[in-house]
Amino acid sequence: MDKLLEIKNLKTYFQYEDKVIPAVDDVSIFIKKNSVLGLVGESGCGKTMTALSITRLLPTRDCEIVSGEIIFNGSNLVDMREEDLRDLRGRDIAYIFQEPSTSLNPVLSIKEQISEIVWLHRKDIENSKEEEFIIQQLQKVGIKLAEEKINFFPHQLSGGEKQRVMIAMAMVSKPKLIVADEPTTALDVTIQAQILDLLNELKTEYNLSILFISHDLNVIGELADYIAVMYAGQIVEFTDAKKLIKQPQHPYTKGLFDCLPERQSGQNRKLNAIAGEVPKADNFPQGCRFHPRCSQVFEKCKKEMPSIFKMESGQEVRCWLYSK
Ligand SMILES: Nc1ncnc2c1ncn2[C@@H]1O[C@H](COP(=O)(O)OP(=O)(O)O)[C@@H](O)[C@H]1O
Ligand SMILES: [Mg+2]
Repeated sequence: MDKLLEIKNLKTYFQYEDKVIPAVDDVSIFIKKNSVLGLVGESGCGKTMTALSITRLLPTRDCEIVSGEIIFNGSNLVDMREEDLRDLRGRDIAYIFQEPSTSLNPVLSIKEQISEIVWLHRKDIENSKEEEFIIQQLQKVGIKLAEEKINFFPHQLSGGEKQRVMIAMAMVSKPKLIVADEPTTALDVTIQAQILDLLNELKTEYNLSILFISHDLNVIGELADYIAVMYAGQIVEFTDAKKLIKQPQHPYTKGLFDCLPERQSGQNRKLNAIAGEVPKADNFPQGCRFHPRCSQVFEKCKKEMPSIFKMESGQEVRCWLYSK
């Protein structure tokens, strides 16, 4: 199979003197070439920590990859030297985050910010051609009047334009993988749809793979070829997007679907949240981590943690309803 990235049994923990926080706890997923993996789960489930682990962009010194492998293009990034990883970051693997305003520098023009990336990753572009190149990059992501807007500062752009600039910046180095962490969450619905369309176009045109992270299964469904559902540091379901949408298996995945407004009809149409809360990572329940919120819980779920079970349909699910 043509995998661009494979994460195997990844554990990323915060290790403080008095406690250990297993933010990512035995995650195995893969992303095929030229495809989109959607990673979905409620806030606090470990999606961002999984994304950051890929190129070891970990937030504090107490946080480290405890075990596992991250195979990208044949090399294991977990034991790659920091200098080599630095070359790879932003070049082969680029990130787009939720809030473009915090990722853009307010005192630099769009041209100056993109120019820094060109200097870092595109030594092949001559100085005399740089401006033209930057304009083209902005046009590729659908920014109108790009010739004028390269001289704008971030505050002069709309939210959607800022996210387009972030995508243009990610594309400069012709990456193989884009990690997009809630890239549309801060945008209103119409702009969100436009950004999803843009990512889809870029995927097709540039043979990209995308790790697309969202807490919103609707958004994930728009773009993903594969979907991984994350809960309390673990993957609870991982499967082809069409199968997952047609026939979700894990009670948590079903619960996420029940929260979507268009699945409900008539007078009772209201947002059903899954009862209870995501447990804190320093205090996961024993057994299946979802059991206190699960409507189909039975005795075994409270005692033993289920492992990933591969169903005949190819769907992978971590639930005692399936693995006996
Ligand atoms: N700096 C930190 N120190 C301690 N725990 C953290 C830190 N950052 C994140 N966590 C914990 O790691 C877990 C996963 O967080 P995160 O990956 O941000 O979730 P998500 O992106 O799915 O919302 C959460 O339980 C969160 O509280
Ligand atoms: Mg997050």
